[in-house]
Amino acid sequence: MKIIIDTEENLAKRAAQRYVELIKNKPNAVLGGATGSTPLGLYAELARLCKAGEISFKDVRTFNLDEYVGLDGSHDQSYRYFMNHNLFEHIDIDINNTRVPSGIDTAAAAEYDKEIEAAGGIDLQLLGIGVDGHIGFDEPGTPWDSVTHVVELEQNTREVNSRFFNSIDEVPTHAVTMGIKTIMNARSIILMAIGSSKAEIVKKFIQGPVTTDVPASILQLHPFVEVYLDEKAAALL
Ligand code: GLP
Repeated sequence: MKIIIDTEENLAKRAAQRYVELIKNKPNAVLGGATGSTPLGLYAELARLCKAGEISFKDVRTFNLDEYVGLDGSHDQSYRYFMNHNLFEHIDIDINNTRVPSGIDTAAAAEYDKEIEAAGGIDLQLLGIGVDGHIGFDEPGTPWDSVTHVVELEQNTREVNSRFFNSIDEVPTHAVTMGIKTIMNARSIILMAIGSSKAEIVKKFIQGPVTTDVPASILQLHPFVEVYLDEKAAALL
């Protein structure tokens, strides 16, 4: 695991350069997308680089990690909406080459891993981390061999994510998420964490035991993971 500690602004720039490099070498790269507040700086930087002609997503395909069950892509808290508005509309990607698990047709989850495989597998998967160590929506206790599936969200995750909704009652109780195995199958992974609320879990997943109690800890066993942290998230390392 390679650890990169820098300011939030520089992290976004440095992570974006990884995408520039990757897509230069492989213009039809397959990217794994993430949502949440953490990747917003990176997405803004990718949009800037694309406008400046330094990167092109023309032949890139993407697969997002997760989606809320019950929200369709027009709901402003759906992850499809998030991706369209924060990234896809600002870059030269063909929207037909972007996939987000369906929160409506949840039976389609069973095909998601096969679709990823048919696309050649994910070259670079982006991850944030929940305060309980979840990646995607793989909550503590998720088996290591899980593939894309429907999950019930932890109360704590719903509370944390309720900041984006009018009230906690509006936060869906379930989500579709790539499994741990789906994520671990990616050829390379970038996990980003920003702010002091992540400091404890960052220490646990990097320096603690590999345990399903801390889903992100499995990343210790992946051959190519880069962890991008600001000073606050890295404070307890
Ligand atoms: C959600 C998402 C995760 C994300 C996490 C942290 O639960 N499903 O993919 O990593 O939130 O979000 P944030 O980056 O806003 O802290």
